[in-house]
Amino acid sequence: MIFGRLAEEIAREAGEMLLAKRPDRPQVLATKSSPTDVVTALDRACEELIRSRIRAVRPDDAILGEEGGQAGDGRVRWVVDPIDGTVNFLYGIPDWAVSIAVEADGEVIAGAVNVVPRGEVFTAVKGGGAWLAGERLRCNAGVPLEQALIATGFGYDSGRRRVQAEVLGQVLPRVRDIRRGGSAASDLCSVAAGRVDGYYERGLNAWDHAAGGLVAAEAGARVGGLAGRPGGSELLLCAAPELFEELHDLLLPLDPERDA
Ligand code: IPD
Repeated sequence: MIFGRLAEEIAREAGEMLLAKRPDRPQVLATKSSPTDVVTALDRACEELIRSRIRAVRPDDAILGEEGGQAGDGRVRWVVDPIDGTVNFLYGIPDWAVSIAVEADGEVIAGAVNVVPRGEVFTAVKGGGAWLAGERLRCNAGVPLEQALIATGFGYDSGRRRVQAEVLGQVLPRVRDIRRGGSAASDLCSVAAGRVDGYYERGLNAWDHAAGGLVAAEAGARVGGLAGRPGGSELLLCAAPELFEELHDLLLPLDPERDA
């Protein structure tokens, strides 16, 4: 499928650029929603590279990018995070990713997540499975909540973080353990690869979860919001269907911002 191949090709090229140009100590260029929400020069350069590659082949498609916002209004939209896990990128923690998804009429149909420092490119096309290095991925099934390794993440807003810490305090005693990887796209691919059993986070943006969410779904995970809506614009849950239900039931009463 052309979109899947193109997303993968561009994610690989963007990753090569970032590896070649990443200085030993990347500098913060600006802050966005809060002092902890940072952008480096390479976030912007990488998104520009991705936009120009998409435009060269698909000039009529819309593009939504973390740094540059929305351009165009075609029925096909590319959803781009040039560096998901910017704080890891800044500190040299090898868990950050280029994430590129393609939506048709609002539905994600292809995705590529290049976890650059690990040399891992996760890909998925709707209905075609999730793949890593030629291997088809399956998420872990049949893991009960109390034995589940759960990944999560935190937003940049201090008020939301306070709530997320309170929710975490209730979740931690109920599960095997918690991981905070620092890149939502990579975390979702970790669910797909069975490296964690589930993932939840409130307040993600489409560019954080669009590609990784498809990879996880194509590996057999259920991906959705707390109210069960597809896409999970607010609190995103991701796990094999049985664990999804358990996580949902645990989180629903805890989450003060719960979806209506
Ligand atoms: C962030 C990462 C992180 C998640 C945050 C995101 P960014 O994206 O995905 O894991 O917890 O909510 O904003 O800012 O590094 O592109």
